[in-house]
Amino acid sequence: MFYSFHTMVILASLFIAVFALFLFFTLKGKIEQLKWLLIIGLPMFFLGILAQETGWAVAEVGRQPWAIQDMLPVSIARTNLDTGTVATTFFMFVVLFTVLLIAEVKIMITQIKKGPEEVK
Ligand code: HEM
Repeated sequence: MFYSFHTMVILASLFIAVFALFLFFTLKGKIEQLKWLLIIGLPMFFLGILAQETGWAVAEVGRQPWAIQDMLPVSIARTNLDTGTVATTFFMFVVLFTVLLIAEVKIMITQIKKGPEEVK
C-alpha cells in the first residue's frame, strides 16, 4: 500500500513536470529539435501504465477487508461465480487487451519510424 501509493504520487509529479517541459518547448516551436526531450517522453507511456496499476492496487488492497467501509465486508460482497467462470472471463480479457496492446505498439512504432513532419 505504502509503496503503491507513493509510486503513483511520485509518477504524477513526474508527469506534470514532463508535461510542462513539453508544453514549454512546443509553444517555443522547438520540440522537434530536442531529441533528449523526446527520449524522456518515450518511457512515460509505460510509466503511465505503472501508475494506473499501482493506483488500482491502492484502491483494491487499501480497502480490505471492506468493500464498503464498516458496512459491507468483502466476504459478503464477493461474487458467487465459480472459479472456472471467473478464469474464463479473465483470460478473455487477457487475450483482448494483448491484441489491443500489440495493435497500439505497432501503430506507435509506425509513427515513430515516420518521424515528425518537415519543419518549414
Ligand atoms: C498526486 C497524485 C495522485 C494521488 C494523490 C492519487 C490518489 C489516489 C487514491 C487515494 C486512490 C484510491 C481511490 C480509492 O480508494 O478508490 C487512487 C486510485 C487510483 N489511481 Fe491515483 N493518485 C494520483 C495519481 C495517479 C496517476 C498519475 C494515475 C495514473 C496515471 C493514477 C491512477 C489511479 C488508478 C487507476 C486508481 C484506481 C481507481 C479505481 O480502481 O477505483 N493515480 N489514486
